[in-house]
Amino acid sequence: MWTALRASASKTDVNALSPDQLVDSAARYVSALPPSMMRALHRFRSAPADDVLLLRNLLPAEAEWGPTAAHSSAPLNTRDTQAAALLLLATALVLGEPFTFRTFCDGKLIQHVVPVPDKEHTQTGESSTGKLEWHVEDGFSEDRCDYFALLCLYENPSAVTEFAAARDVRLPDRTRTVLQETRFSMLPDTGHKLAEIVPSRTAVLTGDGQHPEINFDAHYLSADENDKQGARALAELDEALESARRGHVLRRGDLMLLDNRRVVHARTPFVPSYNGRDRWLLRTMICSSLRRYRARGTRVIP
Ligand SMILES: [Fe+2]
Repeated sequence: MWTALRASASKTDVNALSPDQLVDSAARYVSALPPSMMRALHRFRSAPADDVLLLRNLLPAEAEWGPTAAHSSAPLNTRDTQAAALLLLATALVLGEPFTFRTFCDGKLIQHVVPVPDKEHTQTGESSTGKLEWHVEDGFSEDRCDYFALLCLYENPSAVTEFAAARDVRLPDRTRTVLQETRFSMLPDTGHKLAEIVPSRTAVLTGDGQHPEINFDAHYLSADENDKQGARALAELDEALESARRGHVLRRGDLMLLDNRRVVHARTPFVPSYNGRDRWLLRTMICSSLRRYRARGTRVIP
């Protein structure tokens, strides 16, 4: 499979493709994914309790990525990096349609999660020495992804990708009831370039008790100024998430898929070196509902 991906990347500069063309290129490799991987992806999609999937050793040792991308929307720099991007998209296609927002990373379908100078303490994928706190991707938007996928090109042993599932959160019923009310405000994160910053109203927990969904962000979500009960419930949830925390250090060739409706995630701090060999993940976002995807009518949401 890798040889075919690499050959494809040498024929076409994927940076020159539109998002639709890029996905179309990746689609031809879905049938080349190993049967064990297809089975794991299907189980992940259909099993009621699976919220994070880790696929390992997907990238050959001899692949060369070149220097770590300079920022989240940088071009895919080498033939092997482009082949890795096609692999990520082919995998994503098993779960749904890859998409993105025009306001995020210049509308690039594949984003780089890399440390960037002066962004160390931001609450974005470009942070490093500062902890990236609990959040879901794009909690301010109803169009947020159902899943997102991370493919590790360069690892950093200090950077633990942490996650906690809504179903593992233990809370008193009264707190859960407060969190189920649409009484909280979520701001867009600074990764989005928006003309106007407008908070959206949201509940934090939704769905039934067995399969709850969560929309939480330790930084961008808040209760209203006089809503002491709401603020207390958020603090209790933050604590409960700590107890439900799991984690993994992404290694080269690891591909992690997270259910963005049922899981919050975070990342521990790490020290960037800015020497061209910093931690480097490729990321893409996935809409699992063909109906919602069609209703939007575009792969890049305006
Ligand atoms: Fe994130």
